[in-house]
Order: sequence, then C-alpha cells, then structure tokens
Amino acid sequence: MRRCHFALCLFDMFSKKFKFIILLIATTISFVVMMAYLDSYQPRIVRCFEVITENFLSTTTHSTVHVSTISGKRRSDSCIKHNHVAFLKVHKAGSTTVMDIFLRYAIQHKLNIVLPKRSTGFGFNYLGYEETLLKENLVPLLSNQTYDILCNHVIYNRTAFQTILPTDTKYVTILREPTRHFISGGIYYYFFDELCKIYNITNLSKAVSTFLNNPSALNMPTNYFHNKMSFDLGLPLSQFDNITYIDNYIRELDNDFALVMTLEYFDESLVLMKRLLCWDLQDIIYLPLNSIGAVKYPTLTFEDENNLRKFNKADFQLYEYFLNIFWKKIQAEGPLFFQEVKHFKLIQQKTMHYCNNSLQSAKSYPPLTVPNSAWNKEFFITQSDCKFMSQDELNLMHDLIEEAWGRYNQSLKTKS
Ligand SMILES: *[C@@H]1O[C@H](CO)[C@@H](O)[C@H](O)[C@H]1NC(C)=O
Ligand SMILES: *[C@@H]1O[C@H](CO)[C@@H](O)[C@H](O)[C@H]1NC(C)=O
Ligand SMILES: *[C@@H]1O[C@H](CO)[C@@H](O)[C@H](O)[C@H]1NC(C)=O
Ligand SMILES: *[C@@H]1O[C@H](CO)[C@@H](O)[C@H](O)[C@H]1NC(C)=O
Ligand SMILES: *[C@@H]1O[C@H](CO)[C@@H](O)[C@H](O)[C@H]1NC(C)=O
Ligand SMILES: *[C@@H]1O[C@H](CO)[C@@H](O)[C@H](O)[C@H]1NC(C)=O
Ligand SMILES: *[C@@H]1O[C@H](CO)[C@@H](O)[C@H](O)[C@H]1NC(C)=O
Repeated sequence: MRRCHFALCLFDMFSKKFKFIILLIATTISFVVMMAYLDSYQPRIVRCFEVITENFLSTTTHSTVHVSTISGKRRSDSCIKHNHVAFLKVHKAGSTTVMDIFLRYAIQHKLNIVLPKRSTGFGFNYLGYEETLLKENLVPLLSNQTYDILCNHVIYNRTAFQTILPTDTKYVTILREPTRHFISGGIYYYFFDELCKIYNITNLSKAVSTFLNNPSALNMPTNYFHNKMSFDLGLPLSQFDNITYIDNYIRELDNDFALVMTLEYFDESLVLMKRLLCWDLQDIIYLPLNSIGAVKYPTLTFEDENNLRKFNKADFQLYEYFLNIFWKKIQAEGPLFFQEVKHFKLIQQKTMHYCNNSLQSAKSYPPLTVPNSAWNKEFFITQSDCKFMSQDELNLMHDLIEEAWGRYNQSLKTKS
C-alpha cells in the first residue's frame, strides 16, 4: 500500500470533479488569508508564512536568505528606529528603570544624550531642579551636532524643549496611580516618618490621615507630594487648584506627548513604546531599579483618599485622562498586542533569572540566547548587559558626563 499523510489519502479518495472544487476552495482560502496578512501584518500568520518560506528556501537552495523583512511593522525591520526621544522623568513613577533603557539605547547607538554639566555634587544628575531645560546647564555639543536622547529629571516646558531638541523629537513620559504615587513618595523621602515626629503619633496611618485632613496646616515643604507628577510636567504651582487651567494644560500635553505610559501596566507600556519608536524587543529589556523594598505602608481610609483627591486634584485629573488615552492606544494596536506583551513578559522573566544567577557568579557566564520569534530576531543577553542594567544610576550618570566633556574638550583642541 502507498504511504501518505492521512489528509492526502482522503484527498485521493475524491473524484476528479470533487478534487477540482476542493482545490478551488483551498485556493480561495489561501487568497483570503494572504489578504488578511497584507491587511494587518498579523504576526502569527506571518510567522507561519515565514516558517514555510524558510523551509522552502532551505530545502531548495541551502542559502540563508533573509526573509524576516516580510514580518512587517511588528518586527522593526520595515520601519526606521526613532533616535530622537525626550523621556520626561517623572519622580517616583518607575522612571529610573525607563531612563536606564534610554541610556543603554543611546550608548549602543552612539547617540548624543542631553547631560547636565556638573558631574558631582548634590542633585548633579538633574538637568533642571524645579526648572526647565536651559542650554547653559548642559554639556555642550559640537556646533554641527544635535541632542538625540533626553531622559533626566527636568521640568517640562514646550518652548524651552523645542529650542534645544530637534523638531522630530518624540515626547514620552510615565505616570503612576496618584494614591500609590503619594504613598511611594511619602515612604521614599521619609515624609511619613517626619509626619509621625511632627504630630507625635506612632501610628503611621493615623499620621498620614492627620496630614491629609488639613495639608495646609503643616509647616513644612510638601512639594514632593503635592501634584508632583503635574509639576514635573510643567503645571505651574499657582494653577494647582484651577480646574479650567488644568484641563487645558492636560490637552496641551496630549498634543505634545506621543506616549504617556503607566507604571501599573509597565510591560504593556514598554511594548507600546517599542512599537511607537520602532525599536527592537531587545532594546526594552530591563531590570527593575530604585524600587522600595519591604517597608511599612500606611492604610488610607475612604475619607483619607477623598482628602488626597482634593489635595492632589491635578495629579488625579492628569492620570485619569492619560490612562484613558493609554487604553485607547492599546485598543488601536489590535488583539495581537497582548500576545507580544505575553512574549515580552516571558523574556523578562528569563532575563531576570539569568541576571540573578550571572551577577552572583564570580566566573564568566555564558550568554542567554533569546530565540527568533514573530516579535524579535535572535539576540543574546550577556553578563555585562546584566551588569549595565543593575549598576547605580548616579555612577553611570557621572561617567557619561565626564565622557561627554572629554569628547567636547578634545574636539575644541583638534579644532584650534
Ligand atoms: C562634525 O564635526 C566633526 C569634527 O569637528 C567631524 O569629524 C564630523 O564629520 C562632523 N559631522 C558632520 C555631520 O558634519
Ligand atoms: C517656558 O519657557 C519659555 C521660554 O524659555 C518662557 O518664556 C516661559 O515663561 C516658560 N513657561 C513657564 C510656564 O515657565
Ligand atoms: C508625645 O506623646 C507621648 C504620649 O503619647 C507623650 O508622653 C510625649 O510627651 C509627647 N511628646 C511631645 C514632644 O509632645
Ligand atoms: C492606626 O490607626 C488607624 C486609623 O487611622 C487604625 O485603623 C489602626 O487600627 C491603627 N493601627 C494600630 C496598630 O493601632
Ligand atoms: C484659571 O485658568 C483660566 C484658564 O487658563 C484663567 O483664565 C483664569 O484666570 C485662571 N484663574 C485663576 C484664579 O488663576
Ligand atoms: C533572585 O535571587 C534571589 C535570591 O538569591 C531570589 O530571592 C529572587 O527571587 C530571585 N529573583 C528572580 C527573578 O529569579
Ligand atoms: C573639559 O573642560 C572643562 C572646562 O574647559 C573642564 O572644567 C573639565 O574638567 C574638562 N573635562 C574633561 C573631562 O576633560
């Protein structure tokens, strides 16, 4: 008996007329599938198509022809990576981790980072402490160059940013749910401990509650806890309670910013950013940085939250507005977006596990291979990548500033 795959055997059993009809139907289905693929670049179908193509190529020619370009916009092969990006680093919103992604990207792609001119001293890493971007506060560039990546703390001001950054700069930032943001800041900056001392209360929740009941009664600066996210994004202090102004201001930000991420959906945010900037998956790999360990958290009552809502009106308005935009953007990406996020989370887990082990090892450690997929070409994560991703933010910043000055001073020397 002739051996064949059962589906093909079935096919053999049909009459010639039937075979013709089946072929016709099969052709129609293939055509529809092809059209669907062309229409939406659906990676799963693409992946399938790729495997078929690769198999076909390998059995017929043995050559290693690159077919990955057909995978369209999901793998950044068919678009150009965006190298002009301003990431506004909002305090206590996971922004150190994102900054680390931008610094790694800038270094790998030899881009010019906007850097503060001081490389030591308190707050040296700020481009502007409670002030916006000013040329005289930066490490200068050679006259024929442009700044590519901005990712340090500075207050946003459209005019100031646009005079220093290229016109095609994409603006990106990240926000955090305002109650959690307030609590995180309060713990990180020892504000809640301070409240306990001031009110002479040992119960943390009670101290916070007392504060929220009448914030203006506290005789101490609260600027790190008072609409800090809105303030970082340039909302003037004088307008903190002006709902009309806040409304208008948020709309302006929406015009200026290509993407506002949220810490609550961090991986979703990064995948969205990767797609927006046409970056590769390996560009957004990260190790969580600067997060608070296990400490005592205050519990807020319903009334406390209401008081907080009044105190940080602008931040709540800002967050709620942009969370809505965020989900609309994700919706527009289509259902395959979540498959990519799932894939990214898996690689993240492997990366964290690998880095955990390789950083503890004194010997050199073989790299982690991330295989080719619908979302990425094969790439490697090395022990030194882990070292880079886990290093201290301030040391790195210091070294980058010194390097940038070195390059600048050198160029002045060669010019004269
Ligand atoms: C910018 O200037 C440097 C040195 O002055 C030179 O090496 C480089 O080629 C110039 N770049 C462009 C794009 O003109
Ligand atoms: C923003 O910057 C411009 C120019 O640098 C300045 O005129 C303006 O007052 C600034 N706006 C705010 C709100 O600080
Ligand atoms: C703080 O409260 C305790 C009792 O709860 C009291 O003994 C102490 O004197 C108070 N300290 C101050 C500085 O008010
Ligand atoms: C602290 O105060 C809150 C009310 O603000 C109360 O619900 C809680 O039980 C107190 N905790 C302790 C340990 O006393
Ligand atoms: C509130 O904002 C609106 C819109 O910008 C402005 O016209 C109004 O003068 C502001 N009110 C106050 C009290 O500053
Ligand atoms: C990293 O290692 C520590 C202990 O060595 C462990 O507690 C932690 O869960 C590990 N994290 C990951 C992501 O594997
Ligand atoms: C570069 O020059 C500046 C001023 O001319 C000087 O302060 C700085 O130390 C120099 N830095 C390096 C790394 O050469």
